[in-house]
Amino acid sequence: MKKIHPSEITPEHVYLSRRDFMKGAGAMALSSLVVAACGSGETPSPSTSPDATAVPTIGGSPQATPQPTSLVDEYGDPLNSYEDITSFNNFYEFTTNKTAVAELAKDFTTSPWMVEVGGLVNQPATLDLDDIQKRFPQEDRIYRLRCVEGWSMVIPWVGFPLASLLEEVEPLSDAKYVRFETLYDPDQMAGQRNSPYPWPYVEGLRLDEAMNGLTILATGIYGKGLPPQSGAPVRLVVPWKYGFKSIKSIVKIDLVAEEPTSTWMEISPNEYGFYANVNPDVDHPRWSQATEQRVRESGRRPTLLFNGYEEEVGNLYEGLDLRENY
Ligand code: MTE
Repeated sequence: MKKIHPSEITPEHVYLSRRDFMKGAGAMALSSLVVAACGSGETPSPSTSPDATAVPTIGGSPQATPQPTSLVDEYGDPLNSYEDITSFNNFYEFTTNKTAVAELAKDFTTSPWMVEVGGLVNQPATLDLDDIQKRFPQEDRIYRLRCVEGWSMVIPWVGFPLASLLEEVEPLSDAKYVRFETLYDPDQMAGQRNSPYPWPYVEGLRLDEAMNGLTILATGIYGKGLPPQSGAPVRLVVPWKYGFKSIKSIVKIDLVAEEPTSTWMEISPNEYGFYANVNPDVDHPRWSQATEQRVRESGRRPTLLFNGYEEEVGNLYEGLDLRENY
């Protein structure tokens, strides 16, 4: 199928269809733990994921819950359902059990919520969610999410370009990277109390990656506010990188001069690099990245370079060895 540019998906069509749908519906020590971690290589199977075989695929036979059959990504692939997107999650602050996150996170307090934006900027700011939603027009964005573990979904986010926020705080000329931090609150997040991972969860982007039009801060899915398990109330979405870059429940965004060390780089530097660009030709040391399991689809499909966004982001990496900079 011919690829349609993401900007050609008309927001009105998306919005109307969505409305119809809504009506219906320590490095060495730590690396030994990675077997049970984000990089476990565990791909969805009937026991770990929304069952890919028992329920008809989207667009298949009629189901009790209306499915957004008219919504597709720019390759013509159907969206995953709200149920799939919110019942199979990675959010280690709560648990490493993907299907238990929603229940364990259901009482997570996400209001009031403040996001501090600072570091190497002229105009540091502290914003609450209201400020964010008022200041930055919220848009619909249908993106593929490809987890480093080998599963993927198509998700209709609501959010706004990170670039709009960064422009407001006016990065200084020596700001080269953006560093993001998730809330640290072990009282609310059992995983922060019970697991030895280095908390809070940290991620980073090069400034030009952060300014790219595809990079968004998401505040919703399917037109509703993000539920806790999806990273409420505000998370990053960088669709051409493995899912672990898309940090959830952000409280701090800093412009910095040096490449930030992300949580996964700290846990297992040989397996998780700073870039984490989706790339079928660069395998994870413990498994191939050539194919992926789209949740609710039978069989595996080929993984696309930059998760299918090469046209939009390939130029960011000209001259960079993608194998070395994994
Ligand atoms: N952000 C935080 N703070 N903690 C996490 O454990 N998991 C990451 C990413 N963001 C994670 C996180 C991983 S490994 C993936 S694949 C995506 O969130 C999953 O997002 P989803 O649960 O909304 O599908």
